[in-house]
Amino acid sequence: MQVDLRILRFDPERDERPHWESYSVEADPKLDRVLDLLHRVKWEQDGTLTFRRSCAHGVCGSDAMLINGRNRLACKLRVEQLGTRRITVAPLPGLPVVKDLVVDMDGFFDKLRSVQPFLINEGPPPERERLQSPADRAVYDDTTKCILCAACTTSCPSFWAQPSYVGPAAIVAAHRFIFDTRDQGGDERLEILADKDGVWRCRTIFNCTDACPRGIRITQAILEVSAAIVERGV
Ligand code: SF4
Ligand code: F3S
Ligand code: FES
Repeated sequence: MQVDLRILRFDPERDERPHWESYSVEADPKLDRVLDLLHRVKWEQDGTLTFRRSCAHGVCGSDAMLINGRNRLACKLRVEQLGTRRITVAPLPGLPVVKDLVVDMDGFFDKLRSVQPFLINEGPPPERERLQSPADRAVYDDTTKCILCAACTTSCPSFWAQPSYVGPAAIVAAHRFIFDTRDQGGDERLEILADKDGVWRCRTIFNCTDACPRGIRITQAILEVSAAIVERGV
């Protein structure tokens, strides 16, 4: 079938502001994903169209974009799932646009780094690995699945209203280590997240949870971090 694909275009060297452009693209709704349609436009109609993608299989997190009003991975969304032949694609909201569908992720990654998303343990290294029970591992299993696509943070109205909010993706990354029994940096991270731009900016709106392509229970993770701040008296 023919799909009417509308893409929000912006070339900083040519345009004063973003504008919509329409493309008619042949698609097999059962097989083609939105990423396939973007490829078809780029390869067959306009080679200047710019977007990020790498793995094309939902693993690298590089092709999150706003598709028919919701943040999704273009490589994980088949045309059939949208239930319409009119498709709009725009860059992730709330981040500066570099060109077309490419946004500047520097601020997003700065926030991620601010919560120290790595194992902190000053103890002597063990002979072999640091052991952990399956039950202790299960506590943070969900938040290990993040692929850093930014779909959550950029769908959050609290982040749109206050861009200094650390955002759900950084809290997910912190959660993964705060509840890891082998880690010793939990209180330090909780202090960072107890700041005015930390977890208290979350208003439990749930857009983040809806947007996550990995199905992570993000709002639940944020509430667990908030509870730990209170329980540990940070
Ligand atoms: Fe993407 Fe989900 Fe990670 Fe947020 S938590 S960055 S939506 S994978
Ligand atoms: Fe935003 Fe998610 Fe909280 S959408 S307000 S971070 S529940
Ligand atoms: Fe890697 Fe879509 S291209 S997640």
